[in-house]
Amino acid sequence: MEKFVIRGGNKLHGNINISGAKNAALPIIAASVFAGDFCRIENVPDISDVRTMIKILEFLGAKVEKPEAGVIVVDSRNITPVTIPDEMTRKLRASYYLLGALLSNFGKACVALPGGCYFGVRPIDQHIKGFEALGAKVDIENALVNVQCDELYGSSIYLDVVSVGATINVMLAAVKAKGLTVIENAAREPHIVDLANFLNSMGADVRGAGTEVIKIRGVSNMHGCTYSIIPDQIEAGTYMAAVAAVGGDVTIDNVIPKHLESITNKLEDCGVTVIEGDESVRIISEGNRRKACRVKTSPHPGFPTDMQPQFTTLLCTCNGTSTVVEDVWDNRFKYIDQLRRMGANIIVNGDTALITGVDKLHAAPVEADDLRAGAAMVIAGLMAEGETVIGNIKLIDRGYEMLVEKLTGVGADVKRVDFEED
Ligand code: UD1
Repeated sequence: MEKFVIRGGNKLHGNINISGAKNAALPIIAASVFAGDFCRIENVPDISDVRTMIKILEFLGAKVEKPEAGVIVVDSRNITPVTIPDEMTRKLRASYYLLGALLSNFGKACVALPGGCYFGVRPIDQHIKGFEALGAKVDIENALVNVQCDELYGSSIYLDVVSVGATINVMLAAVKAKGLTVIENAAREPHIVDLANFLNSMGADVRGAGTEVIKIRGVSNMHGCTYSIIPDQIEAGTYMAAVAAVGGDVTIDNVIPKHLESITNKLEDCGVTVIEGDESVRIISEGNRRKACRVKTSPHPGFPTDMQPQFTTLLCTCNGTSTVVEDVWDNRFKYIDQLRRMGANIIVNGDTALITGVDKLHAAPVEADDLRAGAAMVIAGLMAEGETVIGNIKLIDRGYEMLVEKLTGVGADVKRVDFEED
């Protein structure tokens, strides 16, 4: 079983190059079914979630080639909307994007309920509300979601919660619906804009992505395209938090600084220097104890919930008492038990964590509870005195390309070690 072994304490210096965004790549690869032709997709991260999504497309009949690193070419000419079973969807939340895409393109889809990280109940009622508003019939039986329609018709849909997944799924379902669909109270994450741009490159008519109101005028024909995925906001934020936590001077390259503003602002509140370039951010952290701060997660452009575990970890050695409020998910503090094993002083009360800074963390054997909680353990290991061993790292591999290489490139002591016995 593979684990990460980290000897903490090294300051970080140099450059880290950010990969394409996981949460843009997954819906974009799913959306390539619309082309019925070849799509060349560039800046695709080589992570296990992307490999799983490619396997699902191949199962549906697509041919996927990788002509060079970071590039895939999807040939979707022979896709059919067969049932996607549980063993394919269980690893991946984003598998449910095939519901919207296949429904819109073929008039039907049957996809097992999705898996993904567990941070409390993850309902899909808003996805279903959107499909039904467009005229689809939705049944859930034996953990299979079955959607079908004779014809989809554009409609006005108000989402009761700001949901990334529901916004994307309704957008996908509406792409070929007759007439105009208006999604109100839409999520505004950068990956939603990226998906809209990809759909438009294939001939769709999607406007307003990145605002609360998205308008989709259904089209009947779409075609192949070449498209490059945006950089990963959360991967970049994770390395920004790591440098801030352990100290050093690192330039994070291939980013869109605007997407990182909420993270940059909080790092500055902690007393870390962030210098924005055109496509980079430079993080300078003295490494002595930084200041406590207050963080509250919320949908974009707020502070991303997917940065909450990494930021909470950084705050473990900041001077004073910090407050972190988790306002998106109802159960996203489970990993804090692991930080306590490393000496962190954290009290959790409902949706709020109170973190009182300690002088240092110390090494302990810990586990990745989920993808971002696992990234938080990596940061904790870099901060800690001694050798930290992190188990269950397949969850970290879901979303971080070449994590060991990127961190050792800036001077960290991190190894992937295959332990014979667990
Ligand atoms: C996506 C991300 C996930 C991130 C989350 C919020 C992917 C693959 N995953 O998840 O990493 O943490 O956005 O930024 O992109 N909700 C409902 N009903 C629904 C759908 C959602 O009540 O039908 C609620 C959820 O319980 C949650 C909130 O809405 O409280 C936000 O969820 P959502 O934005 O949908 O998250 P995901 O798209 O699943």
